[in-house]
Amino acid sequence: MAAMYREFFGFDEAPFNVTPDTRYLYLSPMHLGILETLKYGIHERKGFVLLTGEVGTGKTLSIRALLNDLGKTVETSVILNPQLSRLELIKTINRDFGQELKKNSFKDQIDLLNQFVLKSATSGKNALVIIDEAQNLSFEAIEMTRLLSNLETETFKLIQILLVGQPELSEKLALPNLRQLRQRIQIHCRLSPLDEEQTERYIIFRIQKAGPRAKVAFEKSAVTKIHQRTEGVPRLINTLCDFSLISAYLKGSRVITKSIVEEAFAETPEYAIPASCP
Ligand SMILES: Nc1ncnc2c1ncn2[C@@H]1O[C@H](COP(=O)(O)OP(=O)(O)OP(=O)(O)O)[C@@H](O)[C@H]1O
Ligand SMILES: [Mg+2]
Repeated sequence: MAAMYREFFGFDEAPFNVTPDTRYLYLSPMHLGILETLKYGIHERKGFVLLTGEVGTGKTLSIRALLNDLGKTVETSVILNPQLSRLELIKTINRDFGQELKKNSFKDQIDLLNQFVLKSATSGKNALVIIDEAQNLSFEAIEMTRLLSNLETETFKLIQILLVGQPELSEKLALPNLRQLRQRIQIHCRLSPLDEEQTERYIIFRIQKAGPRAKVAFEKSAVTKIHQRTEGVPRLINTLCDFSLISAYLKGSRVITKSIVEEAFAETPEYAIPASCP
């Protein structure tokens, strides 16, 4: 059915995939501001930088966009699943930086990293560790990131650490035993869901990307409904738009109306879009 649906609307590919594909990155003023701030924090070697946002608001996609935009002077290590011990974590970081060491002591690994970032700094390079899903870091691992941040010269941090996670991450960092780290975070960006106007632009943007000559229209009232049902969370918008397009296709309609959205919403599994919204 997927191929027929694409052909019916004139899409080259599916417009509402839920993978973090940077070709589909829609940049609202908020996104532009956040990306600029993150880049500033990294290039100015601010040490810790924090990015938080609710589930599905685009944190992982934003990291990818940032990586595409950092340039060759930044060596990066990206940890996507941080449920690792501090030794596993530091070894992964070293490996990402192309440093392998047989010795398994934590101290040896830290020394290795220190040598690497010092060498990078002398050749004008910066080092960045991005930890996604950082709300899942153990205390031990969070404490280790603080040690990493202690690698510094007299004038700047040798390693920049971007912690990315759900709002629970901020709560975790506010706990008394982590206040030492909390104090070092100079930059905190928050990704919010989209408002109704941005939701409309987002939908139009993705549709045009998927098929510059696509024949499909979302009525204003349909967009209002989508925004209301998803509370402007991009992953949920994608799911509901996808279901709405299927519904419309089955009816032979190229116009997405409010009632099509409602119908699609009713058919969307509860786990995909929670019915907590009005
Ligand atoms: N600005 C955007 N432009 C285009 N698509 C977006 C944007 N923001 C989010 N999306 C889409 O929404 C979906 C969820 O994005 P992403 O996986 O980055 O969210 P997340 O915040 O990392 O979620 P989680 O908390 O579950 O890890 C993806 O399909 C992504 O492509
Ligand atoms: Mg994510």
